[in-house]
Amino acid sequence: MKILITGGAGFIGSHVVRLFVTKYPEYQIFNLDKLTYAGNLENLKDIEDQPNYTFIKGDIVDEAFMNEIFQENQFDAVIHLAAESHVDRSITDPMAFVKTNVIGTCNLLNAARETWKGNYSKHLFYHVSTDEVYGTLGETGMFTEETKYDPHSPYSASKASSDHFVRAYYDTYGILVKVSNCSNNYGPNHFPEKLIPLAINNIQNMKPVPVYGKGENVRDWLFVKDHATAIDAVFHKGKVGETYNIGGVNEWKNIDLIRLLCDTMDEKLGREKGTSQKLITFVTDRAGHDLRYAIDSSKIMNELGWKPSVTFEEGLAKTVDWYLENPEWLKHVTSGAYQHYYEEQYNR
Ligand code: NAD
Ligand code: TYD
Repeated sequence: MKILITGGAGFIGSHVVRLFVTKYPEYQIFNLDKLTYAGNLENLKDIEDQPNYTFIKGDIVDEAFMNEIFQENQFDAVIHLAAESHVDRSITDPMAFVKTNVIGTCNLLNAARETWKGNYSKHLFYHVSTDEVYGTLGETGMFTEETKYDPHSPYSASKASSDHFVRAYYDTYGILVKVSNCSNNYGPNHFPEKLIPLAINNIQNMKPVPVYGKGENVRDWLFVKDHATAIDAVFHKGKVGETYNIGGVNEWKNIDLIRLLCDTMDEKLGREKGTSQKLITFVTDRAGHDLRYAIDSSKIMNELGWKPSVTFEEGLAKTVDWYLENPEWLKHVTSGAYQHYYEEQYNR
């Protein structure tokens, strides 16, 4: 089977690519990625020479190129992760999110529609999305697959739009689709603009750790490798046309999470307890900041037998260890050196 994974050089995509390349040597995995600031081929160094792995540099917004790639490779299935993914960036530059997340997704759907015509039943388009499409919760309740979409940020609005297009192509043209909506991920290879890796980096360097507003916002955190196994489960066992919510059953207020992270880092770095907490700095709140996300994952757990493999404490400790053991990765990301890896490795 030939599978196109988009966004495979990013945080979650790289874990999905590694899982599929190593677990399914019989599959041919094509990783298509534009290598934006968030795309880092150093994430995949360990598997880049595998015979069942191919990297394609490309922009999903480039309609002609997407058609060409589909025609040339005749993929059997797509797992679509490429996206602009950071809420704060979507507030300063919403159009980048419209282009990649909405137009890019539609370009892929159109290329699939054209290339797979007459043979839809043998192909699958799996779209990876976020729980942020559901909007925000109050103090209680959880998002289920039936929760109405109510996105608030340009990021979540663009992802909601792409989810709707994917389902519209199923209803209108009969392309077989699956969608999953996942909560906040954390783990190795996370770009240090998102809360957890940004805090790890700042704590390590004794820099202020910015907490938006009062730190009262709640997120449900899932270890990234557990998201990858959930994607594997949905891809292979999920029902066509359906949506699966994926979460960690693991809600944390931002301020409590940051305090735990500070204490974990103090211990790992041999610092006196309380040292890192002094770095916590409350800053102006994010515009339109969703208060709380919480995912009801009972459908994927009961129907597909998936469950997270690590507790949050274990996952967070693994994550901190990974960052401390991979200073080169962080150094390359913060200096921009990672952006030359493609030229150095592939374009010599
Ligand atoms: P990321 O920002 O780390 O990676 C995105 C990848 O997509 C990068 O490699 C980037 O180069 C690539 N990309 C961006 N624009 C592209 C374009 N126009 N053409 C081709 N490639 C392009 O994101 P992530 O955190 O790994 O998220 C991956 C997917 O999972 C996204 O669709 C996101 O919405 C979804 N998701 C993320 C989370 C999370 O917590 N990070 C949670 C749920 C769902
Ligand atoms: P983030 O990692 O950007 O993910 P998302 O916005 O997709 O949930 O942010 C997680 C939470 O942390 C969110 O409530 C915003 C907050 N936050 C901070 O308090 N400080 C920061 O520096 C960042 C990046 C986020």
